[in-house]
Amino acid sequence: MKISDSVIRRLPRYYRQLGELLLEDIHKISSKELAKKMSLTASQIRQDFNNFGEFGQQGYGYNVDLLRQEIAKILNLHEKKSTILIGAGNLGTTIAAHIDFESLGFHLSAIFDKNEKLTGTLVAGVPITHTDQLKEFCENNAPEAAILCIPKDASTELVKNLTSYGVNSFWNFSAYDLHVDYPQATVENVYLGDSLMALSFKTQQQDSKINHN
Ligand code: NAI
Repeated sequence: MKISDSVIRRLPRYYRQLGELLLEDIHKISSKELAKKMSLTASQIRQDFNNFGEFGQQGYGYNVDLLRQEIAKILNLHEKKSTILIGAGNLGTTIAAHIDFESLGFHLSAIFDKNEKLTGTLVAGVPITHTDQLKEFCENNAPEAAILCIPKDASTELVKNLTSYGVNSFWNFSAYDLHVDYPQATVENVYLGDSLMALSFKTQQQDSKINHN
């Protein structure tokens, strides 16, 4: 069954929200209460979960622990996918240091950079390896995913190599729209500037709403 992208995007939000409820020692919640906390509607929540089965009980609501476990299963968080990070600059080292890969379904297996001065430096306990070793590493370790923290031009060449080494999932921070050239690849683009531009647009809309009232 094809799950819509908007549902997939809400699943991590549910997962986080349910985690917060558990921290507050809340183990049972109705779709109405959950909807209120997430600024969604109860029917939206029921529809989302109905894509995957019956998680709630009429008149009882949701068991928070079980629902969170189910969402973890749907998101495949238990299976730690081996991932490599390319580009140990400002962005790459920040991501390596601050993202809790293990709790998010991945294992950071290696970090690569073309700058040999960085070779051997530890980032989040992982030594930086020179990109000369990339092919051999992929052949021996078969990483499933790559995190691209390099400039657009560098990504173009690198993605060509990585796909030929069998890497097909990309967490893409570079400005290279790689899904255009690699429609079969699984890609999550993260470009913070896009989000900021969306905020710019929405802010303008809000301003014009205020001015028209
Ligand atoms: P940086 O200059 O601090 O680091 C880039 C690193 O990539 C350097 O260590 C460099 O040696 C390495 N590198 C370059 N080409 C390489 C290659 N072919 N193979 C392996 N390593 C290579 O730059 P910074 O600030 O970390 O940004 C990196 C890229 O990410 C930039 O292109 C920037 O535009 C982009 N970026 C994207 C953001 C987003 O929201 N998606 C946010 C910030 C930056």
